[in-house]
Amino acid sequence: MGRPDRSSDTCALPVTLPMLLDEAGEQCKPKAIFISNPSNPAGHVQSRKSIQEVIQFAAAEGLLLLVDEVYQDYVIQDGVEFISYKKILFEMGPVYSDTVQLASFHSISSLGECGLRAGFMELVNIDPNVMHFVDTMLCTDISTSVMGQLALDLMVKPPKPGDSSYHTYTQERQVEAGTLYCDQLMLEQAVLIGSGSSHGPFAGKSHFRLCILVSSDVLEEALSRIQKFHQSLVSAI
Ligand SMILES: Cc1ncc(COP(=O)(O)O)c(C=O)c1O
Repeated sequence: MGRPDRSSDTCALPVTLPMLLDEAGEQCKPKAIFISNPSNPAGHVQSRKSIQEVIQFAAAEGLLLLVDEVYQDYVIQDGVEFISYKKILFEMGPVYSDTVQLASFHSISSLGECGLRAGFMELVNIDPNVMHFVDTMLCTDISTSVMGQLALDLMVKPPKPGDSSYHTYTQERQVEAGTLYCDQLMLEQAVLIGSGSSHGPFAGKSHFRLCILVSSDVLEEALSRIQKFHQSLVSAI
C-alpha cells in the first residue's frame, strides 16, 4: 500500500511505455495502448508534457491510443487539471493531429448512474473502413435505452443558469462533508473509501462505506491509518 504522489508524473508513462512495448513484443505485436487518465484507483492525473510524450510515442510506434477519460471530473488536488488527449493532440499540429489514431471514452457511470449504461467514444484519424463499421453496426447494435441516452445528453449539456433544474443540479453537485472526509483520507493516508452519500440519499448523515478487497494484514494497516487520520481530524476541531 504505497502513497500515490499526484504532484508529479510518478507513473512516468513515457519511460515505462517503451519497456512495456518490448516486453509485450515477446508474445505479440502490440497494436494499441490503453490509458486511464485520471487513473482509477490511484487518481493520478497526467500532465500536459506526459500526454504529449505518450502521443509522440504512439506516433513513432504506429499504435492506436485508447484513452479512458471517465474520471475527468474527479481531480481533487489544487493546481492539477485534467486535459483531454484530444485537446493536446490537436494542439500538437498536423504532424500528430492528422495521423495519430485516438479513441477516447467517457461514461455516465462516473456521475453515479452506472445502471443507465450510457457512454460515448470519440474517434480521431480512424481508417474509413473502421468508421463505416462504427457508423453502421455499432450504432444499430448497441444503442442504449432512451433513459440512458437522455441522461448522457444531460451529462454533456448540464443545466445552465436560468434553467428550471439549475438550482437542484448545483446543489446535488456540491461536495458534502462525507466526500470531503474520504478525499482527505486519500490524500493524507492513501486509503480509498467511498462516501456514503454516493450510495443513498442520507442527507445530513455523513458516513462512509468500506469495501474490503485486501488481505487481513493490509486491512490492519488500513484501519490503523483511518484511526490516525480520524484522531488527528477530531483533535484539530
Ligand atoms: C477506469 C474505468 N473506466 C470506466 C468505468 C466505467 O465503466 P462503465 O461505463 O462500463 O460503467 C470504470 C468503472 O469502474 C472505471 O473504473
